[in-house]
Amino acid sequence: MRARSGVHPLLVASKNADVGFEEGMRLLRAGASALDAVVAVVRQVEDNPKDHTVGYGGLPNLRGEVELDAMVMDGATLKAGAVAALKGFRNPILIARQVMETLPHVLLAGEGAAQFAREMGFEEEELLTEEARAIWKRRLEADAGELPPGVARYYRHMARFARALAKDPEAAAEEYGTDVTGTVVVIAQDQQGRLAVATSTSGWAWKYPGRVGDTPIPGAGGYADNRYGAAACTGRGEMAVRAVTARSVVLYMKMGLPLWNAAREAVLDLYALEDEFASGVTLYAVDAHGNHVGFSNREGRTYIFQTPHMASPEERPCVFVGPDGQWQFGP
Ligand code: GLY
Repeated sequence: MRARSGVHPLLVASKNADVGFEEGMRLLRAGASALDAVVAVVRQVEDNPKDHTVGYGGLPNLRGEVELDAMVMDGATLKAGAVAALKGFRNPILIARQVMETLPHVLLAGEGAAQFAREMGFEEEELLTEEARAIWKRRLEADAGELPPGVARYYRHMARFARALAKDPEAAAEEYGTDVTGTVVVIAQDQQGRLAVATSTSGWAWKYPGRVGDTPIPGAGGYADNRYGAAACTGRGEMAVRAVTARSVVLYMKMGLPLWNAAREAVLDLYALEDEFASGVTLYAVDAHGNHVGFSNREGRTYIFQTPHMASPEERPCVFVGPDGQWQFGP
């Protein structure tokens, strides 16, 4: 297929994806599909034990179990595959791709997702590293003292902490020396102008077991449509689920808004949500011509991007949109 004029390969992502950019850009330069590139980048982040928000080494739920969510979407076919609340497999993005390519389904959750992973030959392993366990335990010991029996009761006990975390993830990250609410999202455009998106997370640390955010939900955590563009979200997934944020950006573009205005509208939709835990959502978006932006309802957020002539990814500030709709560019 001939390259669409003016379109060059491109990677756009949350900052923690930088560990996979070399491989992703190598693939795109060699003519690989956007789909192959996003999966390759996310896989490397999932393998990174230092990232406590994704894959192996991710922070666990309240019970101390690492539960992972991931999704991939191909903007050429609008096919998507996802897994949610998956335990015991370090690369949920690869399993999500298998769901997309081999099943008549989009999303598998929990034990069904694990059974499918086993059947596809993925290796089962303990994902909780000593470092992640220590962070998890520190919170429990600091906050819980004597644990009440039953996770549900314990969760109520933890509500004060959960509220503080949801309202101020930056402070929690400072306290624990690591991001505790992160996600990796990657959007790629290939030499043919095709778009794809991949997302992966261990979700909200200390989450209620079985809690699923936006990351594995097509339309919420990510969406790609070659005709208009692609978008993906990090931050408080409950808000992106309710506002269907990634699809909204693409739909606003379909309805004629330029990329920047589409992203701004999607942030304004987040402000309309009533949510006592309301906190940050950052969205990353690319249009069909390869223009890219990061937008957030929090100040100081950044994203990274790389094109083939760049030796390494560049970090850019996200546009902050305030509740009054004011835009603020850069720090
Ligand atoms: N955005 C990731 C999550 O809320 O789980």
